[in-house]
Amino acid sequence: MKTIAVATQKGGQGKTTIALHLAFAAEEAGLKVLYVDMDEQGNGSLVLAGDSKIAHESGYSALTVSTLFDPATGQHLKPLVTEKNIDLIAPDSLLPQYIQGTFELGSPALAAPRTVLARFANDYDLCIIDAPPAMGQVLAALLAASDAVISPMSIDLFSIDGVANLLETITRIRDAENPALIQLGIVPNQVNTRSKYEMNTLEDLRSAYGALITPYAFSLRYAVKAAISARKPVWRAVSGSSHRKAAQEWKDNCRTVLEQLNVLESQQ
Ligand SMILES: Nc1ncnc2c1ncn2[C@@H]1O[C@H](COP(=O)(O)OP(=O)(O)O)[C@@H](O)[C@H]1O
Ligand SMILES: [Mg+2]
Repeated sequence: MKTIAVATQKGGQGKTTIALHLAFAAEEAGLKVLYVDMDEQGNGSLVLAGDSKIAHESGYSALTVSTLFDPATGQHLKPLVTEKNIDLIAPDSLLPQYIQGTFELGSPALAAPRTVLARFANDYDLCIIDAPPAMGQVLAALLAASDAVISPMSIDLFSIDGVANLLETITRIRDAENPALIQLGIVPNQVNTRSKYEMNTLEDLRSAYGALITPYAFSLRYAVKAAISARKPVWRAVSGSSHRKAAQEWKDNCRTVLEQLNVLESQQ
């Protein structure tokens, strides 16, 4: 099993949208996929299981995100099997307590999710972790549990301002907890290709950060939002030329990421 985190400390950058599309692309390629929704908002769970609070119900008997941090409690629990053929570890009401607060390098809570997820190493080809918009413990722990991390960013002042901080955090956690962590880079998302300002800024970012910004990007297209609202990837039920462009771009970019993870080869 390969594990990829889709992580930035900011909300609204496209983490969930990219994590879901990677999951759909991998499932369509015949991989067994595990989706770990570490955001208490449960947006990914809403798309995959039809309910953002599915794991808040009493009597829920699948593994939840908070049990990843408390390995003793969920020893015989399994991820939820969803109608999308993508299994899910959903956020529960105890998750917020793990998101809050600063993290301590070397603490057991930081290492726990990696240990629990390793139990499923033979059940899945790919594990996708959708991160919360925070710099706390959960982000540190999910980076410690991942083989690779990709970070979407929109082209605006506030997002760009957070880049250095994010890169520094990733480097810090990689060095202390997970030296094998591969940084796939910052992927520009919701890029308005008609805006001269955004195209120029993107060029400036590429010269400033070099290979840390991915050579590919996701344009801003309404079809993406509409597809996620319909709980499907943008390349399904395509209509119109703008939608077609979005479908191709998301298919190509997801394939690039899956190829970088070397998960497609293991299928052949
Ligand atoms: N490339 C895109 N084009 C259009 N809308 C997008 C694109 N990427 C994300 N969105 C929309 O932007 C909003 C925030 O994206 P989301 O994936 O929820 O971000 P995050 O998980 O980082 O908070 C959502 O409504 C989503 O549908
Ligand atoms: Mg999200």
